[in-house]
Amino acid sequence: MPCRQCANAAAMRAAADNVVLIGAMGAGKSVLGQRLAERFGLRFVDLDQVIEARTGVDIPTIFAFEGEAGFRVREKAVLAEFCAERGQVIATGGGAVLDPDNRAALRAAGLIVWLRVSVQQQLARVGRDRNRPLLRATDPQARLDALARVREPLYAQIADLEFDSDGLSPDLASERLAALIAAHWPRQGTT
Ligand code: S3P
Repeated sequence: MPCRQCANAAAMRAAADNVVLIGAMGAGKSVLGQRLAERFGLRFVDLDQVIEARTGVDIPTIFAFEGEAGFRVREKAVLAEFCAERGQVIATGGGAVLDPDNRAALRAAGLIVWLRVSVQQQLARVGRDRNRPLLRATDPQARLDALARVREPLYAQIADLEFDSDGLSPDLASERLAALIAAHWPRQGTT
């Protein structure tokens, strides 16, 4: 397992000042990120929401007019901007890890937590969500399987910690995730 969870993430990420949530669509990055930010007294930044706020349109509209490539350009710019800030919980889009520059920026930004989720759980949570253009496929399960095959090695490559929220309520998941982060995050206790 490439994740460094067992190799003392705190020591390796001593300079960490942000918590970065990565993982697939429907992993709970936005919901859990918001709760973590409250718990740790940090600012919550959802990169997709920033893109929507700045463009004034939703993500499907960006995909429709600019294609996925256009969205990725916007995502990269916003990601670089917020990775240069401190004191945040950053929720990334599921595809943010595809770009090597993004992966490097995320690594430098803070403690990276991979929220793991099964394809079955993704389907239950976001399978019918119209706000995710990559899920508008004739076979969403096959699409999610294909995305996972490409992306899971990339999530694993940069993650300090892994957390599996499958089957957990938001309350229980956020409680357990906060405890995991508190045990590994050097900044915790100094806020
Ligand atoms: C994407 C995930 C979405 C959003 C966009 C593309 C992806 O974010 O960035 O629709 O490539 O997996 P969430 O992971 O928050 O759904």
